[in-house]
Amino acid sequence: MSVAREHAKERLIVALDVEGRAAAEALVEAIGDEAIFYKIGYQMVFGGDGLALAQSLKAAGKKVFLDVKLHDIPNTISHGVDAIAAMGLDMVTVHAYPQTMRAAVTAAQGSSLTVLGVTVLTSMDDADLTAAGYAHAARDTVLARARDAASAGMGGLVASAQEAAGIRGAIGADMALVTPGIRPSGSETGDQKRVVTPADAIRDGASHLVVGRPISAAGDPKTAAKDIVEEIFLASNSQ
Ligand code: C5P
Repeated sequence: MSVAREHAKERLIVALDVEGRAAAEALVEAIGDEAIFYKIGYQMVFGGDGLALAQSLKAAGKKVFLDVKLHDIPNTISHGVDAIAAMGLDMVTVHAYPQTMRAAVTAAQGSSLTVLGVTVLTSMDDADLTAAGYAHAARDTVLARARDAASAGMGGLVASAQEAAGIRGAIGADMALVTPGIRPSGSETGDQKRVVTPADAIRDGASHLVVGRPISAAGDPKTAAKDIVEEIFLASNSQ
């Protein structure tokens, strides 16, 4: 496989949102060499022995994004991120509060862990932010936190693919921009209301795409992953 195709493969992150470790391992096995990067979230960490799974994926040469959206006092963040970096994992999420981000960035220094900021959860709209005591609208808050993340030296951000272009404009070319809500054209949207195709997300500045059900619920997950990598490859080449 060419270097460019390998690079496209590194940009696909498959969400392991399945029931238990055995199901996750079966999915990884079914996908085989067509994906390198896997996302482990709350369901797997608390219900599927997810940290042990993360370590076995790393031992098998895969990459792991631990999506646990940390937020706590700096001392606690620092010890937590330090421990995640020591596991050799590749990405972790923290909420994009400046204090939290600074502690996480310092703790990850010198390791291969990329710390990603979550700006505003996509389940929150302007009314939810007002109810929670925030003074600004969701879009403005997303962009302000994206700039805060860049100032804190963060490795990247997680954002809806629909926000990718605006955020890429605010943070410049270097930070990772990891986008869920991806659906290849013609696939089921499920509960996702605002979806973007892999090609459009790449063109809008996403560096990595998080894809769950279009792969995990496909009859043939290996081919589903391969097709998405091909779409990423073609879109990156036409940039
Ligand atoms: O199955 P699907 O492709 O919709 O999965 C998307 C993954 O990205 C899930 O793990 C979901 O929790 C995560 N995610 C999301 N939207 C966000 C943040 C994370 O869908 N705004």
